[in-house]
Amino acid sequence: MELMYTVNPGIEDIAADEISRELGGSISYELMSGHVYHVVENVDYEAFYRLRSINKVFTLIWKGIIGKGIEDLVLFSKSLSQILRERRIWEYVTPHTSFAVETERIGEHKFTSIDISRIIGELVIKVVEEVTGKKPKVNLRTPNTIVHAFVRQDKVFVGISLSGSRSLHRRGYRLYDHPAALKPTLAYAMLTLSGTRDKDLIVDPMCGGGTIPIEAAYIHEDSNIYCLDVNKRYVEVAEKNAFAAGVVYKITFDQWDARRIHEYNFPSNIDRVVSNPPYGIRYGDPRVIRRLYSSFLESLYKVLSDNGRVTLITTEYTFLNRLIEKLGYIKIHERIVQHGGLYPHIVVFTKK
Ligand SMILES: C[S@@+](CC[C@H](N)C(=O)[O-])C[C@H]1O[C@@H](n2cnc3c(N)ncnc32)[C@H](O)[C@@H]1O
Repeated sequence: MELMYTVNPGIEDIAADEISRELGGSISYELMSGHVYHVVENVDYEAFYRLRSINKVFTLIWKGIIGKGIEDLVLFSKSLSQILRERRIWEYVTPHTSFAVETERIGEHKFTSIDISRIIGELVIKVVEEVTGKKPKVNLRTPNTIVHAFVRQDKVFVGISLSGSRSLHRRGYRLYDHPAALKPTLAYAMLTLSGTRDKDLIVDPMCGGGTIPIEAAYIHEDSNIYCLDVNKRYVEVAEKNAFAAGVVYKITFDQWDARRIHEYNFPSNIDRVVSNPPYGIRYGDPRVIRRLYSSFLESLYKVLSDNGRVTLITTEYTFLNRLIEKLGYIKIHERIVQHGGLYPHIVVFTKK
């Protein structure tokens, strides 16, 4: 079976490792494309729900050529029409269920993503009506099935959702949303990059709604996880979310200022800090954010264990890189990811 997964651009390699660990088979991906391809003989459908790094999973029905010009779309329509019949599209999109088409496109083309979605949508309706005598319904908001097209340069990949319209990253524990909540898939990726281990003392000192500590609690059976935030209301929100996630007993919640983290009464030095500090225009004056980063990292240096690691996601990476150097840390990894229309960096560093 050929599968296609959508993931957050920038963490394709982490998703590929997780998929291969959980489901086996062979995997390919390109960084920043937001897609991972997977060929596997037998699918364990249960395993999809264990995956923590992916958004949606699709069965791939076609890998073909689409070209780049408007004139190429005639051949694309003809080939796709045949594929939809061969792959018995009416078994996925029926007259009794609704569907939507979503298209993502990378590269220069004379057509738009909307052109592609429209062509695919019309063909699906036509083929399903021809075979069943009835048209399927289009529902763009909550479809039962999604037909997903990914156009990269002159190639096209078409898949049908196996997870309905629901993204697997929507974990169901977000009872109370933090205004700047991190995607759980990115939280998982950050924890993976920081190399958290069972029994580690893991701290998110600016935990907001608790996404990172909750993901850490899912991964680790036996660890010491702290969710701290200066804002009391967010600490309460995080605790409620962790309760909904069924992991509240694994996390310590407290109101605390990250700029005085060295004064907090931890049972030992910290092994891993994984955090999503404030960044971006939403937080106003960048000078305030920079002062926060400086005071926090200076304070942290005093209580981070010698082989401890810090993993932060921020758009303030130029400043952060200078600060790391200045305070005696050393960078061990940096990558760009896409999050909420921005391109923050995940930066991992340790003590020199
Ligand atoms: C981007 S949000 C974190 C969002 C979180 N990752 C989530 O998914 O909900 C940043 C958080 O840093 C907190 N914060 C800002 N300054 C702080 C400080 N000095 N000490 C502790 N927390 C602070 C804010 O209250 C906010 O909740």
